[in-house]
Amino acid sequence: MTTTDQRRLGEAPDPATLDPAERLSVDELRALQLERLQESLRHAYENVPHYRQAFDTAGVHPDDCRDLADLARFPTTSKADLRDNYPFGMFAVPQDRVRRVHASSGTTGRPTVVGYTERDIDTWATVMARSIRAAGGRPGDRLHNAYGYGLFTGGLGAHYGAEKLGCTVIPVSGGMTPRQVQLITDFEPRVIMVTPSYMLTVIDEFEKQGLDPRASSLEIGVFGAEPWTEQMRREMEERLDIQAVDIYGLSEVMGPGVAQECVETKDGLHVWEDHFYPEVIDPVTGEVLPEGEVGELVFTSLTKEAMPVVRYRTRDLTRLLPGTARPGMRRMEKVTGRTDDMIILRGVNLFPTQIEEVVLRTPGLAPHFALELSTRGRLDHLVVRVEARPDCPPERREQAAREVARGVKDTVGSSIEVLVVDPETLPRSMGKLQRMVDKRERA
Ligand code: DLL
Repeated sequence: MTTTDQRRLGEAPDPATLDPAERLSVDELRALQLERLQESLRHAYENVPHYRQAFDTAGVHPDDCRDLADLARFPTTSKADLRDNYPFGMFAVPQDRVRRVHASSGTTGRPTVVGYTERDIDTWATVMARSIRAAGGRPGDRLHNAYGYGLFTGGLGAHYGAEKLGCTVIPVSGGMTPRQVQLITDFEPRVIMVTPSYMLTVIDEFEKQGLDPRASSLEIGVFGAEPWTEQMRREMEERLDIQAVDIYGLSEVMGPGVAQECVETKDGLHVWEDHFYPEVIDPVTGEVLPEGEVGELVFTSLTKEAMPVVRYRTRDLTRLLPGTARPGMRRMEKVTGRTDDMIILRGVNLFPTQIEEVVLRTPGLAPHFALELSTRGRLDHLVVRVEARPDCPPERREQAAREVARGVKDTVGSSIEVLVVDPETLPRSMGKLQRMVDKRERA
């Protein structure tokens, strides 16, 4: 085994450096969760009119929560509830205790606003520091942070966590791609935090400048904020010679650092359950599903002060699995899609990640593709435009397009149209990638 292979295995952190909560047994964790849940439900009920009304309507009271399973009796919360209480109606503390707000831009209308007390910011930094350590980052590492700074939680969330762990943060934010390459080359960071789609843009820029991305100082990539597949992990590990691990989070629950994949196992993301209680429900009936079944992920915050959330419906689809690298904490499987991103083509459900899988295993094609949904003869029609790799011979393109269409037909059952286009003709991501344009005629 070469030294690179050994490094590729990834190193587990010294157990002595873990947070005490990371070492709790399942039973110890459940006891802590129940105590925190009862407190959190009370805090929401007493301080947020929305929760008081929703609990009263459902005929439940915080005192009814005597066991973790009782949480299922409480009403869920949706993005619409947050929008209806725009901007600060979901806050549970007076404004002078709110140190910071973030917001996620809705595609339509009002953004969703979230708030943090001083203690919330510290909790967030703690779980982010934990996440970076689980990814393989260590105190003293230089960390290039290309998540966007601003109202988006990615930049500042990663920043505070990296500082708390003891890293040297390079707060680059997103955009200005040639400069990203220059700073990576000159400052020699060991860790990079960025969306996977923007990482691809940066890797392409290395090559454009005639530099070998594998020769860069980077050893670890902490990628999240959008779905990405195992095929994409292989693509990035190969092209950058790094360990690529997944980080998950959402602003309504905290931001990045709700769940993190451990580099030594890369087998799904451990939910930091001492702060965020996960459930998976049937997205249609709302019924809680048993461990191992795929459904919509729902979170209840256990320690948040400024904006507690009770059974927040994430719209992300995944399943819960028992803990491995952190035995007490359950894992969530890599999120393969959101209920919002699901495309229904003649009755068959299709997620963009399923197309990514097929594109990335097709020789000659680059990992850049865009989806356009339109109406043809009253039926939905999906066109996938994929870039050829620069070294793809022109005569290979048609064949590659046929292979993708066939691959999607065989694995998912949907018929799609595939067009292979010239390299560098599709828009590049600068942060979160918007892959899909919906041009369907509305009835
Ligand atoms: O994207 C927070 C974040 C920043 C996570 C940086 C990771 C890294 P929002 O803008 O509120 O927050 O978007 C949250 O993004 O509900 C998922 O649909 C999606 N998402 C986030 N992480 C992942 C991931 C941030 N690792 C929404 N895999 C979530 C798949 C993800 N989807």
